[in-house]
Amino acid sequence: MTADAPQPRSAVDWPTLTAAAIEAMHSAYAPYSDYPVGAAGLADDGRIVTGCNVENASYPVGLCAECGMVSDLIRSGGGRLTAVTCVDRAGTTILPCGRCRQLLWEHGGPDCLVLTPQGPMTMTALLPLAFGPEHLDPNHPARGTITP
Ligand code: THU
Repeated sequence: MTADAPQPRSAVDWPTLTAAAIEAMHSAYAPYSDYPVGAAGLADDGRIVTGCNVENASYPVGLCAECGMVSDLIRSGGGRLTAVTCVDRAGTTILPCGRCRQLLWEHGGPDCLVLTPQGPMTMTALLPLAFGPEHLDPNHPARGTITP
């Protein structure tokens, strides 16, 4: 395999990605839930982006760790997420919430791998029948009406 050949799925270095998520988790601002979260993502150019949850006295305003991670992705040059992991304060793998699955869909797409307690899973498995940018196209077939 040449140096710049596409990496097989098994090449994701989950321990390194998890270590980055744990480091990010230590920066969390979670005084209301006392549930610090760290997220780390592998971009398609090989860089690792991270985020932590940032809560707010107005509870719904709080940001999940994945929000910070996606912000880091865009800020640091963009690209696509190919693998993501999220951890709690114990460093244990946690599942991304529903809203964050939508975020990951936008910036990773169907083939992005997410580490779950059951092992790596695709975003297609975590968010089936997802709404994505293509659905904004008025000519997209999924916008057809259902005939009763
Ligand atoms: N949280 C995340 O950061 N990501 C998730 O995917 C699940 C939940 C945060 C939000 C809130 O600050 C805390 O965990 C408790 O829900």
